[in-house]
Amino acid sequence: MSILEVRNIRKSFEHTEVLKDISFSMEQGQAVSIIGSSGSGKTTLLRCLNFLETPDEGIIRVNGETLFDSAAAESRSDASIRKKRLHFGLVFQSFNLFPQYTALENVMLAPNLLSKESGTADRDAIRTRALELLDQMGLSDRTDRYPHQLSGGQQQRVAIARALALHPDILCFDEPTSALDPELTGEVLRVIRSLAEQKTTMIIVTHEMSFARDVSDFAIFMDGGIILEQGPSTELFDNPKMERTKQFLSALQS
Ligand SMILES: Nc1ncnc2c1ncn2[C@@H]1O[C@H](COP(=O)(O)OP(=O)(O)O)[C@@H](O)[C@H]1O
Ligand SMILES: [Mg+2]
Repeated sequence: MSILEVRNIRKSFEHTEVLKDISFSMEQGQAVSIIGSSGSGKTTLLRCLNFLETPDEGIIRVNGETLFDSAAAESRSDASIRKKRLHFGLVFQSFNLFPQYTALENVMLAPNLLSKESGTADRDAIRTRALELLDQMGLSDRTDRYPHQLSGGQQQRVAIARALALHPDILCFDEPTSALDPELTGEVLRVIRSLAEQKTTMIIVTHEMSFARDVSDFAIFMDGGIILEQGPSTELFDNPKMERTKQFLSALQS
């Protein structure tokens, strides 16, 4: 059974259809990269998976559980959306840390809120887990710093720890290094690479082509709201079949 199954997703904004019949699936432990020009619909797709946008049509299944089915009226209610969102973690281009909280507090915040709601508050366990994650991100000496006291690369690593703190089934990255100075992209790509080595299930939207080729098992090329080509990443990057994919890749490599 696939960990994620996306079937026939469509999404329009006003009169523009931004996603046109998107279907793909992925397996537990896989890293999937999504590439494509600006405006091709990559962010909208991630936002649909994270329930920040509601698809107009389609089905989203995680571990066989149908989280969204446009044919079922119930899927459109807000009540269960927060719970569904927990299946996915999302790391944004612009970090989006809470400026008034330290690195450690940023990582602990959501798990604390959630455990309070469910009446299972175990602040010590949450703190221990947050410290472990920050350590894994190479930030054990930065846990008490506020976002403005951290570099962009450090902030993004805190954001990754924060996304992992809720144990998502699938961790999604939306151009995680695009807002960083070039000398800071390496440290973020390194932690993503190590997550891939630990078989973290991930979807990575990126313009870092050689990184995507190395790290991902599977790659998806989006163009104008459709998946123009998808396949094992070595094949897609080294031997693309569609003329448009070839053009896109060669434009970035030159
Ligand atoms: N909230 C929105 N309202 C209207 N148009 C949007 C909205 N979000 C995205 N779009 C449009 O959808 C298209 C795809 O955008 P996006 O998903 O951000 O692409 P990408 O991430 O591949 O650059 C763009 O033309 C963008 O202008
Ligand atoms: Mg985008």
